[in-house]
Amino acid sequence: MHFVVTGGAGFIGSHLTEKLLSEGYRVTVVDNLSTGCLSNLPNHPQLKLLQKDILTCQPDDFSEPIDGIAHLAATPSVTASWLEPLAAHDNNLSATVRVIELCQMLKIPKLVFASSAAVYGNQTQLPIVESLPTHPISPYGLQKLVSEEYASLFCQKLGLSFIGLRFFNVYGPRQMPDSPYSGVISIFVKAMKEGFPITIYGNGAQTRDFIYVKDVAMALTKALIAPREPGSSLICNLGTGKTTSLLQLVDILKTCFPEWKSDINFAAERIGDIRDSQADISKVSSILGFAPQSSIAAGMAGLVESL
Ligand code: UD1
Repeated sequence: MHFVVTGGAGFIGSHLTEKLLSEGYRVTVVDNLSTGCLSNLPNHPQLKLLQKDILTCQPDDFSEPIDGIAHLAATPSVTASWLEPLAAHDNNLSATVRVIELCQMLKIPKLVFASSAAVYGNQTQLPIVESLPTHPISPYGLQKLVSEEYASLFCQKLGLSFIGLRFFNVYGPRQMPDSPYSGVISIFVKAMKEGFPITIYGNGAQTRDFIYVKDVAMALTKALIAPREPGSSLICNLGTGKTTSLLQLVDILKTCFPEWKSDINFAAERIGDIRDSQADISKVSSILGFAPQSSIAAGMAGLVESL
């Protein structure tokens, strides 16, 4: 089978690409290398790179039949979506519409989409089940939600089978630590590796459902190969169902970096931060047979080992 991965040179996309290749599939990565990088990709005879923005892709860019497309290319930043909403709209929503058009023109039977827990906004009812009302509180969350709705609307018309996975807090090797809006784990790991202090916003009791990137790659692979009805639409949370507080996270990281002796600073809570987040993963478990393999400690050890 041959799969296309948009954003395949990025953090999550490159792990999915690796996983698909390791299972014997052929992969075409579409990536404009705006945030992804070539060094994330392996040298592999079954891998092709189309260095292009998905928005400008034409059907004749693809020379062989495609069994499924995983659409991960995006501007994955809440802040960027506030600062440059039109650019984020193009990259997060118009790009999805282009992917749907390509599915139509190239008769691609399966679309798997990287959605986000950001579609839920501030949920107080935990764990979060997919049936709760969505209420995005950023343009980014809205763009992910409307992307899901576009795909659901078109899939019936096109006989396309659609799976949207709402990622919770993904971490692991190749996540960029260099922006203040990067995931907390990549920021803390970089600081501890370099011997710098870390800052906890709030009291550290806030919790998140952190999921290791290799588990995300496994779930995406299952979604790509799962037999599904043509025209069907499925939306599932993708997390571990477990939560970790920032203070627990720091304790685990201290065991990974025993030589780290710098400070833990506490600062005011970040405006707009949610307090707790936890996925209900019954749906993805029962329908796709997904079960996370890495505990937070194992994932963190994998991440530290990759440095
Ligand atoms: C994450 C996503 C965001 C999405 C949201 C939806 C990332 C980077 N952000 O935000 O796009 O909208 O889920 O649920 O994946 N923190 C510190 N110190 C730091 C950095 C962060 O204490 O140096 C704290 C934050 O204040 C927050 C927690 O760590 O309380 C997690 O932060 P972060 O990794 O940015 O993720 P979310 O806020 O959950």
